[in-house]
Amino acid sequence: MTSPDDPRSPDLDGLRPRLPSPLLEVVDRRFERCGVRFLLKRDDLIHPELVGNKWRKLAPHLAAAEGRTVLTFGGAYSNHLRATAAAGRLLGLRTVGVVRGHELRDRPLNPSLARCVADGMRLHFVDRSTYRRKAEPETLAALLRAAGAEDAYVVPEGGSNALAVRGCRALGEELADVADVAAVACGTGGTLAGMAAGLGPRVRALGIPVLKGGFLPTDVRALQTAAFGGPRGDWSLDDRFHFGGYARTTPELDAFAEDFEQRHGIPVERLYVAKVLYALVALAEEHAFPRGSTVAAVITGRPFPAPPAPAPGAMPSP
Ligand SMILES: Cc1ncc(COP(=O)(O)O)c(C=O)c1O
Repeated sequence: MTSPDDPRSPDLDGLRPRLPSPLLEVVDRRFERCGVRFLLKRDDLIHPELVGNKWRKLAPHLAAAEGRTVLTFGGAYSNHLRATAAAGRLLGLRTVGVVRGHELRDRPLNPSLARCVADGMRLHFVDRSTYRRKAEPETLAALLRAAGAEDAYVVPEGGSNALAVRGCRALGEELADVADVAAVACGTGGTLAGMAAGLGPRVRALGIPVLKGGFLPTDVRALQTAAFGGPRGDWSLDDRFHFGGYARTTPELDAFAEDFEQRHGIPVERLYVAKVLYALVALAEEHAFPRGSTVAAVITGRPFPAPPAPAPGAMPSP
């Protein structure tokens, strides 16, 4: 690890993250009716480009990279790849993105990958079977060679490993005294694993998986063991709100997200955030939260491409 005085240490504080992230109480009749207070933990306001859980998960990696090229992995629309590319530009680090899908190499770049390239990221496309085996040492070594980045600092897919999970503990600490339940959407489960540890045993951490499969409990336990030496906090997962899997949606979910944006004036990221918000409204309507309790939803991301800037005063200023 580097120290702030180490010349190889990137100047993360110089990026002026807004931490602790703002907490906003919103008035929503669907929660009011059940006597539940509803809070939004605006991690999407931490930094304009290292948004939400990206800041919490990437910052420890960027420090640990000590100025080396940062290589990481993602799909064609990966929020994580875009955030890593942006971090590279902001901090003067070289970045390489290993992209799932060899066929994408010969197609025009989608807006997400085009943004990565504009931010200076070098893309390296691999077929899906190699991508699946990317954590195996021989496959990884071959990938690093092929990408011309043998000395690179490797950040796992989604940024999730012990270091990142420890980075997410602060999210839980920021919510520990203000909520009875804190909910977050889960991909790899790293954000939930860290948040639950920071919340401690009094506050329930609720994870809403956006992928189908039911494998997350094992992954979250493994991440907590790697990060903290064993299970931490009181967490659980509710598997009913993935809407068919990653990036899948339904007209009902789209309508819900649009309605939420209109009611509360906040942009709703569709892959993750829409699903956790939908889940919380559904749970409130099932009377799953005791009357008098406080429920917080973590807003872990922002839609991409970013929506047009709202008129002054239209954004809540928590
Ligand atoms: C906006 C957003 N929210 C939530 C998550 C889920 O995070 P995790 O992979 O730590 O479960 C991701 C994925 O990185 C994300 O991009």
